[in-house]
Amino acid sequence: MSTILLDRSEGGIATVTLNRPDVLNALSVELLTELGETISAIAADRSVRGVIVTGAGPKAFAAGADIAELNKLNGHTGRAYSEHGQRVFSQIENLDCPVIAAVNGFALGGGCELAMACHIRLASERAKFGQPEVNLGIIPGFGGTQRLARLVGVARAIEYNLTGATIDAPTAERIGLVNHVYSPEELMPKAVEMMTAMLAKGPHAVRFTLEATRRGVDMTIDDGLTLEARLFGECCGTADFTEGTGAFLEKRPAAFTGR
Ligand code: COA
Repeated sequence: MSTILLDRSEGGIATVTLNRPDVLNALSVELLTELGETISAIAADRSVRGVIVTGAGPKAFAAGADIAELNKLNGHTGRAYSEHGQRVFSQIENLDCPVIAAVNGFALGGGCELAMACHIRLASERAKFGQPEVNLGIIPGFGGTQRLARLVGVARAIEYNLTGATIDAPTAERIGLVNHVYSPEELMPKAVEMMTAMLAKGPHAVRFTLEATRRGVDMTIDDGLTLEARLFGECCGTADFTEGTGAFLEKRPAAFTGR
């Protein structure tokens, strides 16, 4: 693959790097297709337990969909184009292991939408977010009208989607678009540190927490609580639950096995 780099560490962390630095990692159709194939490979690889998504080069996570390609869309091809990007980003959101976006620079348009499809966003002080599609005469097409409102609230999402304003890293942290902001040098080590801490927990608990939270936000509270109780029950049937609670009572660290 030329537009995506995949690195699998021994600790079970896969790092996916968007790799078109000359055009600020703009999301071409080729890149989106290769990203989808990469995510499918990750989903099928049980040795991968967590994913970090980042951008190549010092300037950008991704500066959006490739505008040279956008320019060629028409009323017939636009919908399928949007659905392609949506499908790939939903694949990421639906992974059953944690996905952290390490946002190292511009995350505009499709770049912001990609970051929002990840479960957690960590940003460098240099990161800049935004949905500038309105400047191009289009709307966000890879989930931006939906996920931004879920993350920062309807009024803020409408404001940012209608003004196309750039959101700097401290503002993104204040409004809940990113979890934490670090210096550019700290960003990847902090992402790995957070992922490593998560992967030290019981794998069933990690998977079920993701599932209950991710699916629950789109449910009624009653349906979400029903889902939570079902997954809580499933946890109680695992060896990791016996180990985790037993280790606490025996005042020793838990040694989870994923069984
Ligand atoms: N699609 C295609 N090419 C893009 C791109 C995009 N979304 N974003 C940047 N590039 C290209 C530029 O055309 C330029 O290519 P060139 O060197 O061949 O001229 C290269 O990446 C570097 O970008 P440049 O604009 O020179 O960098 P900058 O630091 O002056 O500005 C941005 C950075 C992000 C502010 C600016 O590139 C930009 O506004 N990009 C578009 C953002 C956008 O509207 N995204 C939403 C798309 S739906």
